[in-house]
Amino acid sequence: MIVAKQPGKTLGVTISDFDPATASDADFSALKKIVHTEKIAVLRGQDLTPSQYVQLGRRLGRVERYYQKMYWHPEEPDVFVSSNVPHNGEQIGVPRTGKFWHADYEFMPEPFGLTLIYPQVIPKVNRGTYFIDMGRAYEALPQRLKDAVEGTVCRHSVQRYFKIRPTDVYRPLVEVLADVEAETPTVTHPTVTVHPVTGERILYLSEGFALSLADAEGNDLDSGLLQELLDATGQTDDTFSHPGIHLQTFEQGDILVWDNRSLIHRALHTSQPEPTSSFRVTVHDEHPFYEGIRV
Ligand SMILES: [Fe+2]
Repeated sequence: MIVAKQPGKTLGVTISDFDPATASDADFSALKKIVHTEKIAVLRGQDLTPSQYVQLGRRLGRVERYYQKMYWHPEEPDVFVSSNVPHNGEQIGVPRTGKFWHADYEFMPEPFGLTLIYPQVIPKVNRGTYFIDMGRAYEALPQRLKDAVEGTVCRHSVQRYFKIRPTDVYRPLVEVLADVEAETPTVTHPTVTVHPVTGERILYLSEGFALSLADAEGNDLDSGLLQELLDATGQTDDTFSHPGIHLQTFEQGDILVWDNRSLIHRALHTSQPEPTSSFRVTVHDEHPFYEGIRV
């Protein structure tokens, strides 16, 4: 594999000669290792059908199909579609997804380790996805905040950014929220997780899905602490100039594979909406999501 650092970037590498059709199991293992250590791998020059794309995901591990049908690709339900572009005259997938900091499936009991994004229609002006490496962000915290989060847990829920479905129209919001809590109950993960491959300590929380922090006995901690952590890690920086924020751009034919254990991400903010569409496949690799996870 030809692996290259990205000029001027401290995160992520590009891989220019990876052909999923001919790659061996050893190649796939090597790719996973790169993703675990470099955090983002951009596979260049890919030209895959939705079904070949899912096959690529299966070579990496167990593909997780999204729990809500409205995101599914009409022919390949294992492909999650984010799109504002009509497909054969019809809306497929869901527009305007992920415009807030989050890790994928952070609100689920067992999130997956790998996210793959295959952009299909790429905006001309505003292209890219923002990332923050929450391993580095933890490392950079002042000792006072590291001490404050030690041994604590964080509660996560999709409720703040749950997208109202067409079938929810005219329903009272309180009923919709009750349904959300029944379908995806609030989950608890350690505030600091340990990466099962690298051993890195990760501050596992995001502005989008983290609701509150609690001590080991489940007593709520002051909400000011969560706010301080979001501020310190760059998640409340509306200018996106915080040194921890990485903008990952892409071109037609790129597939991004990233470490969903340690990276949080958000879609690039666009004031002028442009046609954009991308396909996502998500994968549990052979390692637990974090050391000691109970599933
Ligand atoms: Fe996402």
